[in-house]
Amino acid sequence: MLSTMSLHSDLPPDPTLDDPKGRQQCYDLLVIGGGSGGLACAKEAAQLGKKVAVVDYVEPSPRGTRWGLGGTCVNVGCIPKKLMHQAALLGGSLHDASHFGWEVAQPIRHDWRKMAEAVQNYVKSLNWGHRVQLQDRKVKYFNFKASFVNKHTVCGVSKGGKETLLSAEHIVIATGGRPRYPTHIEGALEYGITSDDIFWLKESPGRTLVVGASYVALECAGFLTGLGLDATVMMRSVPLRAFDQQMASLVTNHMASHGTRFLRGCIPLKVERLSDGQLQVTWVDLASDRKDTGTFDTVLWAVGAMEFKHMSSSGNWKSEFGEGWCPTSPDTQKILVDAQEATSVPHIYAIGDVAEGRPELTPTAIMAGRLLARRLCGQSSDLMDYDNVPTTVFTPLEYGCVGLSEEEAVARHGEDSVEVYHAYYKPLEFTVPERDASQCYIKVVCLREPPRLVLGLHFLGPNAGEVTQGFALGIKCGASYEQVMRTVGIHPTCAEEVVKLRISKRSGLDPTVTGC
Ligand SMILES: Cc1cc2nc3c(=O)[nH]c(=O)nc-3n(C[C@H](O)[C@H](O)[C@H](O)COP(=O)(O)OP(=O)(O)OC[C@H]3O[C@@H](n4cnc5c(N)ncnc54)[C@H](O)[C@@H]3O)c2cc1C
Ligand SMILES: NC(=O)c1ccc[n+]([C@@H]2O[C@H](COP(=O)([O-])OP(=O)(O)OC[C@H]3O[C@@H](n4cnc5c(N)ncnc54)[C@H](OP(=O)(O)O)[C@@H]3O)[C@@H](O)[C@H]2O)c1
Repeated sequence: MLSTMSLHSDLPPDPTLDDPKGRQQCYDLLVIGGGSGGLACAKEAAQLGKKVAVVDYVEPSPRGTRWGLGGTCVNVGCIPKKLMHQAALLGGSLHDASHFGWEVAQPIRHDWRKMAEAVQNYVKSLNWGHRVQLQDRKVKYFNFKASFVNKHTVCGVSKGGKETLLSAEHIVIATGGRPRYPTHIEGALEYGITSDDIFWLKESPGRTLVVGASYVALECAGFLTGLGLDATVMMRSVPLRAFDQQMASLVTNHMASHGTRFLRGCIPLKVERLSDGQLQVTWVDLASDRKDTGTFDTVLWAVGAMEFKHMSSSGNWKSEFGEGWCPTSPDTQKILVDAQEATSVPHIYAIGDVAEGRPELTPTAIMAGRLLARRLCGQSSDLMDYDNVPTTVFTPLEYGCVGLSEEEAVARHGEDSVEVYHAYYKPLEFTVPERDASQCYIKVVCLREPPRLVLGLHFLGPNAGEVTQGFALGIKCGASYEQVMRTVGIHPTCAEEVVKLRISKRSGLDPTVTGC
């Protein structure tokens, strides 16, 4: 560590300290983490005239996978995931195509290597694009691993081990998180992979066990199945815990009826490598206490609770600066922040996945970063509104939602005050290829009292992300059920089914849509 700084200095940076040899530099704003939130914050502040630096460093995964600038979403999250989901959906479309008169050579085969290379090349182009954007906006980018030296100063260490001190008036921590390994399970770290690796595999993962039952687990198992691979999901409790549980069940029912295997109520005990290279997993069924084994080519841990490493030079926030300095949640190790995204240190902020209580989603990290930059530049006092954030789970049948689940609505308002309108519908595109539409389902959760404010909207069907985005605007504006019913549909679409929901759950009538 460079010795020029006092470890416990709380003084704001002195620009005259700018070291001509480049060992110490001063900025108005220093952003640690070049992912969704950090890049958005840095670019916005620079555009508003601030002197800004971004420090980003990617620790390779335990498997040795590494990637470039842009954070989780670009490299090991939303982007490669959605492209592989698209690859899987195309497989389904190829099957449909013959029903529409296309002559498709049989059998249809998928080449993982080709898909992975194309996806990885696109991701690399995004890495490059982010670097160019930073340069264009005069944001200084350092490929350094950052750790705090004191409350205004960060030490950046380059790959070659060179240390540079960076001081700033304001510091934004946007370091995201990384998938967790269940290290208490024998062989988990040695033989398993996570979402940090799956998108960068050069060869097909083959027969795959996915452990976990949330977004990452179901999305990955979904596209693997869609690509024709044998995928099994091992879940210890319920799927998609934070979501409406009726919708979650429909999501997993659809996956199960399209070839994904589910081991419910099971937890893995150990992973061993057999002499033929296959992985043997031993698990226990929690209900019967019976042990069982299975062999797989790949074990993918999707047990969430991303690992949050904090960055003082001792690796711990509290020990360096005393208790109470940037406190973290004891459960999640995420940094506690207030509505201004401020930590307990007035000039240090935390945004995105690393901040406690925030949705772990790219658009919320981006918007929080932009709004924070505007506040820091004195351009606005607008705070990020984390209510009614829409999201979509990109399982083979997509599930989009915004607002409250039925359970949450009932818990908050009481069963008597909540009305749920619902429908099972058949997308027109499912008819000719005779696709099963048993799980295509929509529900709108409202207050029962007129005009029946919409509390939540849940859509399970093709292109759910596209459908949900528009309705999210309505709900953000306080739309009522009456207004939804007065909205004219676009025919023939799946989205129009939302504005035709006439059957309430309470009525007990059959909610299956027939005809136009
Ligand atoms: C498989 C998967 C699929 C996902 N799909 C979606 C989706 O479809 N839609 C969606 O909205 N969200 C999705 N997400 C979530 C989304 O990717 C994250 O919410 C988002 O990337 C968080 O942004 P961030 O800025 O907080 O952190 P990140 O994007 O994770 O960026 C943090 C950056 O900081 C760097 N860093 C960490 N420590 C240091 C340090 N000490 N010094 C320097 N740099 C450091 C990291 O290497 C990283 O580059 C998905 C996540 C996963 C894992
Ligand atoms: N489409 C999207 O927008 C998208 C996609 C992917 C990720 N994300 C974001 O990324 C975040 C992380 O997602 P995630 O799916 O990785 O995590 P998550 O939401 O935290 O879910 C973790 C899952 O793993 C299970 N689990 C935890 N520990 C386990 C153990 N030891 N053994 C077996 N199972 C275990 C949990 O089961 P229990 O329920 O029993 O605890 C749960 O099903 C999400 O919150 C989301 O915001 C978004």
